[in-house]
Amino acid sequence: MPQATTLPASYLAQFSEQPGYLNFASYGPPSRDVLATSAQLMADAAAGAVGTADKLHAEDLRARAAFARLVGFDLDNVTLLPATAYGLMQLAFGVGGKVLVSAGEFPANVYPWLRAQQAGVGEVAFMGGARKMVTPELVAASLTQEITAVAVSAVDFQTGYRADLAGIRDVMGPHRLLLVDGIQGFAAVDQDWSMADAVAVGSQKWVRGGWGAGAMAFSDAGLERIKPVLGSWTGVENPTSYDGLPHEPRRDALKFNVSNLSPFATGAFASALELIEEAGIDAIAASIAATTGVLIEKLEGAGVDILSPLEASQRAGIVVAGFPTGNAAEAHTALALAGISATLHGSQRIRLSAHATTDNETLSHAALILAGFA
Ligand SMILES: Cc1ncc(COP(=O)(O)O)c(C=O)c1O
Repeated sequence: MPQATTLPASYLAQFSEQPGYLNFASYGPPSRDVLATSAQLMADAAAGAVGTADKLHAEDLRARAAFARLVGFDLDNVTLLPATAYGLMQLAFGVGGKVLVSAGEFPANVYPWLRAQQAGVGEVAFMGGARKMVTPELVAASLTQEITAVAVSAVDFQTGYRADLAGIRDVMGPHRLLLVDGIQGFAAVDQDWSMADAVAVGSQKWVRGGWGAGAMAFSDAGLERIKPVLGSWTGVENPTSYDGLPHEPRRDALKFNVSNLSPFATGAFASALELIEEAGIDAIAASIAATTGVLIEKLEGAGVDILSPLEASQRAGIVVAGFPTGNAAEAHTALALAGISATLHGSQRIRLSAHATTDNETLSHAALILAGFA
């Protein structure tokens, strides 16, 4: 493991993915703690003792608290989600006004704005396009007076480009809201998330907490200005006083809640977040950055085109290899046959993504296979 010295051995010992796993941008194999937590919570549910449901749902607070600490927002400004995309729907229906977003965003950050516009609760303006980087310059050139919010991914799923959130914040000015899809960045980079008025993340990728949970954090302005249009029964005051009356939405970020979440998922998320806290997000991010740097070097050495940014400040955990002759599918099959997981994007691109636990042999092996297709 290339960066073992920067991370506690106890962190590295938590993971058991097979060598060859280079697909963390798709999902990150969970830790032993996550496995143990899920199994225990499921066993508790199976036993069905008095008070079990309350005990299981208390996992929500453990996850919210850990997320709040890691993302740097107050607990009241943080709520949980079943997945990132559910948070983006809440933002799109609640923010109002006209939102500027790249047409090249992951679809979970495109359809909510279209749906909100179709429902008549907001407007969308598109900028950029597929694989166009959302730079502060692009945002500045696309802003019009009517734009009230900008939505962007912290790290682009397709290019690996890490957005300059501070730069975007600067060109937007203080009055527009910055809405961030953080799933490809959170727990992969050491980011100051306080630039965002809302940031939504999921548990299943870089957090390594498995599917079914995520979280969303709001600045005070975001919390005040984004309405819980899609909030439901668990997002109101006194949700269980079944009095037949509509109740006021909560004032904290829990106003966006729709229903109870799976405690198996939120408990797993909590354990994954606590492990990140223990190891230090800075150490994990540094290790991921170093590992992806080595991967880029090895691919370049093998004659493979790199289509993701080379500049360290502009990338996170994603490295995109290019196959200009259109043989990416064959290369991807060769990787799979060699036990290497990666994501095929069309006929010319393979997305590789490494974590702090990725070993040097995996990086060398991938480069060796891909050399044959360069
Ligand atoms: C940038 C981005 N946003 C959103 C999603 C969807 O995340 P979730 O499944 O947590 O809704 C993905 C998943 O690949 C993604 O890459």
